[in-house]
Amino acid sequence: MISSWLASARHAVVLTGAGMSTESGLPDFRSAKTGLWNRFNPQQLASTYALEHYRQSFIEFYQYRIRTLRSCEPHKGHAILADWERRGLIKQIITQNVDGFHQQAGSRHVIELHGSLRTVRCQRCGNTLNSEAYLRNQFNCECGGFLRPSVVLFGEMLPEDAIEKAWQAAQKADLLIVLGSSLQVSPANQLPVIAKQNGAKIVIVNWEPTELDEIADIAIHERKIGDVLREMDRELKGSEGR
Ligand code: APR
Repeated sequence: MISSWLASARHAVVLTGAGMSTESGLPDFRSAKTGLWNRFNPQQLASTYALEHYRQSFIEFYQYRIRTLRSCEPHKGHAILADWERRGLIKQIITQNVDGFHQQAGSRHVIELHGSLRTVRCQRCGNTLNSEAYLRNQFNCECGGFLRPSVVLFGEMLPEDAIEKAWQAAQKADLLIVLGSSLQVSPANQLPVIAKQNGAKIVIVNWEPTELDEIADIAIHERKIGDVLREMDRELKGSEGR
């Protein structure tokens, strides 16, 4: 069913969350046992307050995340989404993830709502460097300013241009597929609502139930995203006679 919707969609958009990258080995945030926020306190580690008042634990937390990120890579599901973009099946990926895996897998139209852990940015001059600087214990820019990860911290606004582009994509979508998000964090969790209001079909693929299941035309739970995407891709190739 979903693959036929995808094949006939005029403007399909995909919204991904941390569940898109768990099969690459990256933990998500709210899964019962393995979620990061079940092991670490985000306010003490990933917030503007932590940046100012718990600087050492802030640095150690992001060294851990950057080290973990660099030991993982995109999985088949990321590659399938990049292939669907090449085949014109999806127009845009909007991601809450900061791992850069969609781009690494070949997707070109990616909106990063929460920034990127691939770089760090100087608080004083705005200069950005590869986040490997943190693994070399380099925390200061040449200008002397502090280098912080280029991610949106709790307490910070999202990048204006990312929000603008994501809102436009949600308004244009006639099919919005959510992959691996609990949809608990605003404003990302408004995107399916906006798409629905503009007449889009909503598909949610998420192991656990989400906050927006009731507006989904189809919600798939307790199945791994990688398996669902492989199955959809087989159906699409079958219907294309490939
Ligand atoms: N297949 C399907 N679903 C999965 C898989 C998988 N392989 N792995 C995890 N999930 C589901 C989990 O059940 C969970 O509900 O993905 C969801 C991920 O939800 P969260 O951990 O809340 O992640 P996300 O929705 O992306 O969080 C949004 O919160 O802390 C902030 O900035 C952070 O971008 C993040 C935002």
